[in-house]
Amino acid sequence: MKTVDINNIKIIIVDNYEQMSKKAAAMIEAQVLLKRNSVLGLATGSTPEGMYQELVKKYQENEVNFQDVTTFNLDEYYPIASDSPQSYAYYMHEHFFKHVNVREHYQNIPNGSNTNVEETCQAYDRAIEASGNIDLQILGIGTNGHIGFNEPDVKFEAGTHLVELDEETIEANARFFEHIEDVPKQALSMGIRNIMHSKKIILMASGQNKAKAIRAMLKGPVTPELPASILQLHQDVTLIIDEAAAGEL
Ligand code: PGA
Repeated sequence: MKTVDINNIKIIIVDNYEQMSKKAAAMIEAQVLLKRNSVLGLATGSTPEGMYQELVKKYQENEVNFQDVTTFNLDEYYPIASDSPQSYAYYMHEHFFKHVNVREHYQNIPNGSNTNVEETCQAYDRAIEASGNIDLQILGIGTNGHIGFNEPDVKFEAGTHLVELDEETIEANARFFEHIEDVPKQALSMGIRNIMHSKKIILMASGQNKAKAIRAMLKGPVTPELPASILQLHQDVTLIIDEAAAGEL
């Protein structure tokens, strides 16, 4: 493991996916130990699966307790039923919530089945603000530099909003669906404003296919074309990436 600093961002480079997952889980554990009623911002996708496994293990071994924790997920497809196996609500249940003791009404995920999108988004923003904002936000990164579903050309000032998914995102996520045509074309996502108001941010990335986006977010200009580049302006971001994702630094 080695650490470097680039543009105000601390980067922890680990050997592989397993080490990345363990490091991220340890940082969440520390957060919850220091503040039992922490507000955690959570992510879905392949990247955090190992981290959730580690957290479940820690919970089972009584190392961490989520009794007073509140969670806000970054995003959800739209429209989608929350019991659809492709929904992020389902993902969270399967990978994390059904194994640990986060209380059900403390689990927040944008509602992908409410046709009143405006209402869903405003309610989500209000709930995040009412919680006192997120203490620790976990992020992955898309090959196009997206965070959450904030796709290139994002408005940095936006809160939770409806997003048109990028072709690149639809292709990347097609692996979770039977046919690419089944991937929803829209999603609800926390905005950059919500993410930037988080007190601490951890971004994880593994694999060579993320190396270009990691380089651009750290070394390129801050631009809506590469949404993750905004993190250069946050005061407490840690990247946990493996050697492959760090390959172009
Ligand atoms: P992945 O997605 O973890 O499935 O690679 C990350 C992202 O798109 O943010």
